[in-house]
Amino acid sequence: MSFLRPNPDIERWNRKYQDTAGQGRGVGVRAEPELVAHESMLSKRGLAVDLACGKGENAMHLAAMGYEVVACDFALSGLVQCLPAIRKQELPVYPLLCDITRYPFLPHTFDLVCVVRYLERALFDQIKRWLKPGGMLFYKTFNRQFLSIHPGFNPAYVIEPGELNERFSDFEILASDWGGSEALCQTSPGISFILGRKPGLKIPVRASASSYRGGWRLSMRPPGWSGRCRLSPQQTAYDT
Ligand SMILES: C[S@@+](CC[C@H](N)C(=O)[O-])C[C@H]1O[C@@H](n2cnc3c(N)ncnc32)[C@H](O)[C@@H]1O
Repeated sequence: MSFLRPNPDIERWNRKYQDTAGQGRGVGVRAEPELVAHESMLSKRGLAVDLACGKGENAMHLAAMGYEVVACDFALSGLVQCLPAIRKQELPVYPLLCDITRYPFLPHTFDLVCVVRYLERALFDQIKRWLKPGGMLFYKTFNRQFLSIHPGFNPAYVIEPGELNERFSDFEILASDWGGSEALCQTSPGISFILGRKPGLKIPVRASASSYRGGWRLSMRPPGWSGRCRLSPQQTAYDT
């Protein structure tokens, strides 16, 4: 089965990351303020995944907090930009070049799922499955108000204000930008976020990195994945 097929979006993101290499927020420079503000609510151990991680800034921040982190994106040019920093700081971040809409993560795999500035509603139910019972979700992305600030932005990539709360209403919402019993937090205009906990008992954290590494390498190794921090721009981006 193929987890990465050529598509124009991959090329678009690859070009964007090539053109902006070394610019922008920079790897490891700044994590999401809403994530930092609510760190005390996180277990800071176990296995996390940063879906559509871009240059891996949030993945690195989560690793520095104490998680082991799978950093997934289908744009190799972004993913490689975090490699030097991961190596230098010896952070447990495992880059995974894949299309997250195709990758078969197993149910009850992650203690934390992080999604920032990426929207694919079809993944919401998958995310719920991939989380362990009691696992945490940090989801932050653009909402409809963003269009009035940036009229050229693609409306397909915005959610409605409060939509995350609604879609994850089966979760215990611990913090969000939207009204409710949870901690109400201000975020940037045109941005929505939630920090939520999947219902159910918290499964004790296993020695997940070693079992994850072994299991994944042996049985679920995706194309383009060659093990910890060994992804290089020379690698083939697509399987055939
Ligand atoms: C706006 S960027 C956000 C990057 C990062 N999360 C951040 O906030 O800095 C969107 C990212 O989603 C990635 N992406 C889009 N669709 C994807 C897919 N189906 N599978 C994997 N990555 C995807 C792009 O390559 C890009 O890096």
